[in-house]
Amino acid sequence: MLTPVIMAGGTGSRLWPLSRQLRPKQFLSFTDEATMLQQTLSRLQGLNQQSPIVICNEEHRFLVAEQLRQIGGEGGRILLEPMGRNTAPAIALAAIAATQQGKDPLLLVLAADHLIQDVERFHACIEQAIPLAEQGHLVTFGVVPTHAETGYGYIHQGAELGQGFKVKCFVEKPDADTAATYLASGEYLWNSGMFLFRASRYLEELEQHQPAMLEACRAAMGDTADDLDFTRVCAQAFAKCPDDSIDYAVMEKTDKAAVVPLDARWSDIGSWSSLWDVSDKCDAGNSCHGDVLHEETRNTLVRADSRLVATVGIDDLVIIETKDAVLVAHKDKAQDVKKIVQRLKEQQ
Ligand code: GDD
Ligand code: MG
Repeated sequence: MLTPVIMAGGTGSRLWPLSRQLRPKQFLSFTDEATMLQQTLSRLQGLNQQSPIVICNEEHRFLVAEQLRQIGGEGGRILLEPMGRNTAPAIALAAIAATQQGKDPLLLVLAADHLIQDVERFHACIEQAIPLAEQGHLVTFGVVPTHAETGYGYIHQGAELGQGFKVKCFVEKPDADTAATYLASGEYLWNSGMFLFRASRYLEELEQHQPAMLEACRAAMGDTADDLDFTRVCAQAFAKCPDDSIDYAVMEKTDKAAVVPLDARWSDIGSWSSLWDVSDKCDAGNSCHGDVLHEETRNTLVRADSRLVATVGIDDLVIIETKDAVLVAHKDKAQDVKKIVQRLKEQQ
């Protein structure tokens, strides 16, 4: 049986102005009525799984509880982080929680903000990964790269191993030249950001590569406060935890990584341009949401939340209208929206 661990503590700043500190993108809906968190949980239906552990920032606890309730997902455990320390500690807290009472389940670690359009293939890939995880591997799910993306991890695929492959090396977010070399070699897969491993194996890796992180997470989980469905970890202990992602802290260092190729129409809705990529579009390539009128407009994403938005004679833009902020950006520059969020933070 698998225990899903849903990482839902990111900020989603590149999807500003819809994604905000109080409601980051994993709690919003883009491609479906359900929010990204709800879609992440719902697409697990049919797998042999125990109730999930959702791990998020304390300030989003009611959002998470309400969204779980709406899809009949009560009963899951909600772990609350007093502050963000990135994904390696978040997963450590979940692994420690999962190994309480002498259990040691396989953890299926998932991001709360991905889109997977072929759920049947997704389930088949997970089934393929289970024997590898049971043998002690840290299994990643690799996607065939289509461009030299610098926002992803790259997996150098090695020799066959069961129904997957050994990982020769894992490189998180390489620079543009390195990414281009990897793409040209044809030997690399993108890391999809989902993992399968036994809880105790992850903790052993931390013990070896990140002992201070493990110690801080054990201390934080050693002094928890339970309230309703929530488990609050000790803020004082967690504040001492180093901040790092699983990709840098563990995956780049371990020699026990394996990869199962994932061909399930996966996408990371990381920015407005990636949302445009996966959206239904009209013949002119526009994806419009809300009250929108367009003339001579091509390959543009428009979302109107509170007013009519009209566009004339434009190409390749992203226009996001909300009550208190409007974003107009070139689609090729959609990654840089986070710079605006940074400036707003500095002004606060
Ligand atoms: N609980 C918790 N706490 N969750 C977090 C935290 C945290 O401090 N930080 C991030 N998350 C959640 C995010 O909400 C998201 O669901 C997931 O963890 C991954 O974090 P991102 O910040 O989105 O990572 P990334 O996109 O830069 O990179 C990862 O995903 C890529 C694919 O989408 C890496 O695993 C890359 O290697 C991978 O290619
Ligand atoms: Mg991401």
